[in-house]
Amino acid sequence: MTDKAKLELNGKPIEVPVIVGTEDEHAIDISELRAKTGFITLDDGYGNTGSCKSAITYIDGEKGILRYRGIPIEQLAAKSSFLETAWLVIWGELPTRAQLDGFTALVLENARLHENLLRHFESFPANGHPMAELSAMINTVSCYELDIMNGEDAKNIESAAARLLGKVCTIAAASYNAAQGKPIIQPDPALGYADNFLQMMFSQGRKDYRVDHEVAAALDLIFVLHADHEQNCSTSTVRMVASSGANLFASCAAGVCALWGPLHGGANAAVLDQLESIHKSGVTVKDYIARAKDKTSGVRLMGFGHRVYKNYDPRAKIIKATADRILDKLHINDPLLDIARELEAAALADSYFKDRSLYPNVDFYSGIIMRAIGIPVNMFTVMFAIGRMPGWIAHWKELHDQKSRIYRPRQVYIGKPIRDYVAMESR
Ligand code: CMC
Repeated sequence: MTDKAKLELNGKPIEVPVIVGTEDEHAIDISELRAKTGFITLDDGYGNTGSCKSAITYIDGEKGILRYRGIPIEQLAAKSSFLETAWLVIWGELPTRAQLDGFTALVLENARLHENLLRHFESFPANGHPMAELSAMINTVSCYELDIMNGEDAKNIESAAARLLGKVCTIAAASYNAAQGKPIIQPDPALGYADNFLQMMFSQGRKDYRVDHEVAAALDLIFVLHADHEQNCSTSTVRMVASSGANLFASCAAGVCALWGPLHGGANAAVLDQLESIHKSGVTVKDYIARAKDKTSGVRLMGFGHRVYKNYDPRAKIIKATADRILDKLHINDPLLDIARELEAAALADSYFKDRSLYPNVDFYSGIIMRAIGIPVNMFTVMFAIGRMPGWIAHWKELHDQKSRIYRPRQVYIGKPIRDYVAMESR
């Protein structure tokens, strides 16, 4: 394969470099095209644009491959924990025992929110969206942690990452409890990461409350499976904001806003909304599947199919077994979960879905697990954000290590040509 590509512009030949990634991905480097020719490239939605070189995550959608720092997601799901995976994603190597213990302690010790921060939750309306509160509170935390703005040495980044990873769980649980007028529970550093989150969410200060470790392990797995997914909308947003020199907290608060949109992080909530509407309308699963197959109905089966994974979503394959186990264990009598299981079985057996390789994606199963363990639907995207935090931190750090220029795409102007200002009385 050549290391140069040839273009011809206005009759003049021009050579542009070809960049090859570690997994043999090829890209034409057009970064000097404008300087040399006056041309830019146009790629609406960036579907064919590599915005950076990154060493964090590798995805092959056709083959159903997802690897963090080269390690297959299947191995991490089976053997790792969220905080170990977070370390791997952020620093590029699996931690030693001492590194992991030190980082875990740092995260949990820093999960506590300043007393003044707790008062902010009193001023949010009870029906305020938890994603708005999460983004606002991540930014607000930075007002109390001024030292995170000082320097970018490794220790400083480790401390900022630990504070962010710790505090997002406390913010999420506080937002849930405050909305219901229940007491806000501060973290217990003696508990594990997911255990702590569940304790803060559901204990309401009861001394006899005990976290179910199997439920905590399922949540930890959801976090591992969401830890990074290369240049999606929110991660690209984090890199974009970070490229201006914005601090880690400001950049990740922007990531939360990008993730909030229904086309991105909102898909897991859409699964539950659809189950709810099937239940309320009383339509049978068979009829609903028929509607999803009918192109004129405008109905799609939420939680099925994927833009990148065209054969199967490797994360869905992993999490399905956990979803089955949690549903069997908790014996919850929930008509929506019954519909989910029926829908899954019917779609997997249907040639429309089989022929188009439309399998349940990670959002389908993570939505089911979260419903089963009592996390409200409006918090689903918040859970996604907590899981994605290591990826955002890693991309923020990578961008700084690469000493990247400020991100500044160009555009093709399609507005009016030059014209004169018209005085008010003449319009
Ligand atoms: N239900 C019914 N038919 C579907 C569905 C579905 N969920 N998804 C795709 N199809 C059909 C589609 O109509 C098309 O049929 P035909 O070839 O006859 O025209 C074929 O399958 C290929 O679909 P596509 O629109 O080319 O696929 P896409 O890559 O543009 O869309 C998708 C991917 C995820 C937007 C789509 O599958 C979808 O809308 N799924 C439901 C929403 C969902 O679960 N989204 C979460 C994705 S995971 C998010 C994340 O990882 O961040």
